[in-house]
Amino acid sequence: MIEVTSVERLAQHVGKTVCLRGWIYNSSSKGKLHFVQLRDGTGIVQCVVFKNNVPPELFEQLGHSGQETSLSLVGLVKADARAPGGFEIDVTQGEIHQSVQGYPITPKEHGIEYLLEQRHLWLRSKRSWAILRVRDAVITAIRSFFDERGFVCVDSPIFTPNACEGTSTLFEVPYFEQTAYLTQSGQLYAEAAAMAMGKVYTFGPTFRAEKSKTRRHLTEFWMIEPEVAYGTLDDIMVLAEELLAHVVAQVLLRRPEELAALERDVEKLKKIVAPFPRLSYDEAAAILAKHPESTFKYGDDFGAPDETILSNQFDRPVLVHRYPKEIKAFYMKRDPAQPDKCLCVDVLGSEGVGEIIGGSQREDDYEVLLGRIREHKLPEVAFQWYLDLRRYGSVPHAGFGLGLERTVAWICGVEHVREAIPFPRTIYRLTP
Ligand code: 4AD
Ligand code: MG
Repeated sequence: MIEVTSVERLAQHVGKTVCLRGWIYNSSSKGKLHFVQLRDGTGIVQCVVFKNNVPPELFEQLGHSGQETSLSLVGLVKADARAPGGFEIDVTQGEIHQSVQGYPITPKEHGIEYLLEQRHLWLRSKRSWAILRVRDAVITAIRSFFDERGFVCVDSPIFTPNACEGTSTLFEVPYFEQTAYLTQSGQLYAEAAAMAMGKVYTFGPTFRAEKSKTRRHLTEFWMIEPEVAYGTLDDIMVLAEELLAHVVAQVLLRRPEELAALERDVEKLKKIVAPFPRLSYDEAAAILAKHPESTFKYGDDFGAPDETILSNQFDRPVLVHRYPKEIKAFYMKRDPAQPDKCLCVDVLGSEGVGEIIGGSQREDDYEVLLGRIREHKLPEVAFQWYLDLRRYGSVPHAGFGLGLERTVAWICGVEHVREAIPFPRTIYRLTP
């Protein structure tokens, strides 16, 4: 019996004959030789098919089988330092499952809109492969980080009765006799769960009817939201920087080949170690005031260009804390030392990528929170359960939300978040 293995495990089979199952990534022929780049999902390996070593039908079929032909090849594994990946297969047998001609995506350049339209196939390219494998390692690292620190994962609902992050970006869904909204954030539910379990996190899809067509915005994205009972702003700032440092270290450890495929400068990633620099909003505003390219006005939220200027000052992510209350959410606690500011933090990724985390200490006083809900003209009835958390055993607590796609794009050095999710949803794209 010939053992079936995968490209990533070839090192364990040198000198042995194995079977690989996959697809033709690329191929070329030279007289009595076919060179087949076989990809199997775990990697790509060069398979050398010499006419005299294989059945004649196989040699003939391979001669007219194009990119993405599905096939199994059996051959001897040879270590070869010159081969990409370090191995080569000397093919002796094989079977074509489906011979393909005219695959729509060739290794030549295609426009981004065309590629997005073909996303179901574009996933097979080396670049998408690398990014989505980094995404997988990021997800695993986040889960292990929280698990090791005693956080409990709780899932928040996707159909919700009210807004969490402002009423202007809600997706409405008919819900029997009522209207529901797709969740913008699991935070309010994470707060309830933190009062039950102490330290929790949510991990799920979130939705924003963002009209903005920027490289940072999706309408459907994944968010990870830790929430800590008895936690303060300082506690979650430390948690955020430890989380990011852990995630980057895990990706460097587990996905070096993928980072190389993306031509990512890993030296920059190796610098992502805690502690990160910290700036108050006022300090950040002072940096922008001195910057010739900034159009920032004190009191405003930072725009994408402002965030880029700020994050370019440092080789690590920067924590910007204590923004003016006017530009932040209703649930954020005011800073007792300067009541016009919130106890909040945004983490801007390095290399100019902008905000990847937003968080705060939460308002824990019943009367103050009720006042805030009224000020923001939020439907009081829908928030009664949330107010209960301040009626029964209220304690200081804090948390944040990390945007998965922005984090993956940052680590991969990819310009646009649409490449950091398998099937992106944006204002103009609902397919495939
Ligand atoms: O800053 P945001 O809006 O914060 C919240 O939703 C809080 N409820 C989180 C919390 O405290 N539990 O969003 C958090 C993060 C952002 O920093 C960003 O990384 C990501 O979610 N994000 C988006 N990512 C892609 N597309 C969008 N339209 C995004 N909006 C936010
Ligand atoms: Mg934010």
